[in-house]
Order: sequence, then structure tokens, then C-alpha cells
Amino acid sequence: MPRFELIATTTFGLETVVSRELEKLGYTELRVLDGKVHFSGDDRDIARCNMWLRSADRLLIKVGEFQAPDFGALFDKTVDLPWSDYIPVDAKFPVAGRSVQSRLHAVPAVQGAVKKAIVESLKKKYNRFRFEETGAEFPVEVSLLRDVATLTIDTSGEGLHKRGYREYAGPAPLRETMAAGLIQLSYWNRDRQFVDPFCGSGTLAVEAAMIGRNIAPGSGRSFLAEDWPWMDRRMWKEVRSEAKDLRLPRMPEPILGYDHDPAAMRLCERSASEAGVSGDIQFRVQEISEFKSNREYGVIVCNPPYGERMGDQQEVEAVYRELGRICDLLPTWGVYVITSNQWFEKHFGRRAPRRRKLYNGRLECQYYQYLGPAPPRLADGATGVDVEENKPE
Ligand SMILES: C[S@@+](CC[C@H](N)C(=O)[O-])C[C@H]1O[C@@H](n2cnc3c(N)ncnc32)[C@H](O)[C@@H]1O
Repeated sequence: MPRFELIATTTFGLETVVSRELEKLGYTELRVLDGKVHFSGDDRDIARCNMWLRSADRLLIKVGEFQAPDFGALFDKTVDLPWSDYIPVDAKFPVAGRSVQSRLHAVPAVQGAVKKAIVESLKKKYNRFRFEETGAEFPVEVSLLRDVATLTIDTSGEGLHKRGYREYAGPAPLRETMAAGLIQLSYWNRDRQFVDPFCGSGTLAVEAAMIGRNIAPGSGRSFLAEDWPWMDRRMWKEVRSEAKDLRLPRMPEPILGYDHDPAAMRLCERSASEAGVSGDIQFRVQEISEFKSNREYGVIVCNPPYGERMGDQQEVEAVYRELGRICDLLPTWGVYVITSNQWFEKHFGRRAPRRRKLYNGRLECQYYQYLGPAPPRLADGATGVDVEENKPE
């Protein structure tokens, strides 16, 4: 079975989460760079990682990497790469590109040169002059960073945030991959109450339910590499059915999702039902001021309004104050809040012991983490917090 150099791409700030996910899947020798985790694997690993990675954006095969200070070097070194090992004679192979701090900065010209070079390489191997490109798709990306070209083929197709459960979303939804990352950065596990009091279209609640029930994030969608002729279809079937077998039963107690917008609830219920977790979540129309709980050691993970638009500031400050007041009444809870609003801590009323810079889309945010105390040991010796599996840093 050939081995590939694989790259799980992710949003800046979530690399450690993706590394931890890969470690949990059994991969070692990970190399972490900005927004990328490198590792190696075979066909089955391509299927497993697409199926199971919750916070990665895509899974790429790295075909080659080299210095490309000029078009000559880019072309010649691209021709020399073993493209026919991956790309069959009838394949489509569109080329996308990007360039950061590199001498070759005209991206369309870079893409054109790489396309021509791949054609040249395939011509030699397949003894052909033309390629019809009518078969399966192998999207190539050339990424130039400080004159180093990295050439990859995308195995995922649609970004991994597309789980297949969310057709419509309300305003300012979180990406599913980001939502999963925020949850995995918290100390939540399925034995603790999970609440999102600003649930919007329900992304955090649905992702928490999928994590709590060990539902593979890719089980409701397909991947580009499934159509590749050299991939064994039976193996993909096995990976899917293994994922089904690993599902855990219903959550011991429901996840709670609240929002004051009734229209949001309809989206939530639809998404939860599509994801197969409607029985694990209770959604309710509720103002933040109405939230109370007599439970201990619960966890709030939320994406409240940020007040990015003019005129929203006062309303948002009042929301943060209210959240702070409620959390003061829940001293055993962990509270995790992502926002771009730089005054969040002031209005919430406490400085966060831990924070992390993350990008929600293009918006620079902070993830404020009030960890709360660890739950007491349970009778069987467990702590109630799976520290090894769910280590935030
Ligand atoms: C940034 S959106 C959350 C998006 C959500 N994470 C998602 O993925 O769809 C913020 C949500 O807070 C809700 N919200 C704003 N003020 C609120 C309040 N006072 N009480 C309850 N919900 C509120 C809004 O209706 C909106 O759905």
C-alpha cells in the first residue's frame, strides 16, 4: 500500500486541536506548521481522517515541495514530480494557487505554469498529447510561501466543515470545524451539562452532541477521494460502517441550546434532526437573562453577538453583563466565550485565566476560557473530566 505525506489544514489557532485529534486517531510523528499538520498515511488513513477530523478544513496529499524563485524552477521541478502516481489518464486536474511573500506573486501565471508542467509530466508517462479531463477530479493547489512551492492534491472536495446537516444558517454562524475546535478546547465531556445560551442556528450544540456521541463528523457526506479509481471502494465502506459501530448511545442528559430569536430555533431543530442528534438536544427560545441552572460543573460554550455593527455596542455590553451576572451564580461551571469585542472581559466582569487568538472567518477574535474547578472524583475513581482526552492546551 503506497504511503503519502498528508496535510490536515486548519484555521490559524486550531493546530493543537487538530494534532490532538490525529493523536487520538493513532497518528504519531506529526509536524505542526502555521495552519497545517503534516503526517503520513495510506489510502485507509485518507478515508479515516476525512471521516473523523472535526476541526480540520481539508485533507491534502503533498506531492512535492521545492524552492521556486522563478518560473523556470517552478516549471521544471513540477514536471519532475510523480504526477501519474496520483492522476489517472482521464482525470480532471484543476489548479488553484496562492502566493505569500514570494517573487512569483502573479497567481494566474503560477497556476498556468503548474498546469502546463503537470500536462508535460503526464504526456511523458501516458504517451499522449491531449487529456480530455472527463474523469474523477484531482484538485491541485500550488502554494508559494517565501519562494517555497508546495504542491498538493485535495482529497476532501467540499471543505470538511460541510458535514451535511446544516443547509441553512442564521446570521453570523460559526463554521462547524471552528465550533468543534472551541468545544475540544474546553474541559467539557459527555458527563457534564453543556449549554449554549446564544445558539443561533445551533452549531455548537449539534457539534457537542456529535462529539458526546462519538458520531463521525463525515458520516453524513461524501469525499472527493471516494471517486478516485485507485481507491478501494470496499475500504471506504468499511471505514463508514466502522464509524457507525463506534457511535455511543444517547447523551446521559440533553445538551441545551437557547436563543431569543424564534426563527433560529427552527434552523436548530432541522440541523439537529439532519445530524441524527435531535434526541440529544433541547432547544428553547429564551433571553439570556432568563437562564438559570441548579446543576453543578456544567459548561457554557458560546458565540454571543460581537457588536460589530454601529449602534449594537450598548446592547452587546448589556448582554455580556448579563452573562457575567449569570456565571457568577454558577461558580462550579466552566465558561468559554469567543468574541471579537475587545471590551468583553470588562463587561463580563472578570479577566479570563486563559485566552487564545482565533479567527472566526476573517474576524480576529479571542477565545476567553474560564475553566472553573474540576468536578470531584466520581465513585469509580474517574474525575468526570477526561483530562487526557480533552486537554485544552
Ligand atoms: C453570533 S450569533 C450565534 C451564532 C451561532 N453560534 C451559530 O453557529 O449559528 C449570536 C446569537 O445570539 C442571539 N442573541 C443575541 N442577544 C441575545 C439575548 N439577549 N438573549 C438570547 N440570545 C441572544 C442572537 O439571536 C444570535 O442568534
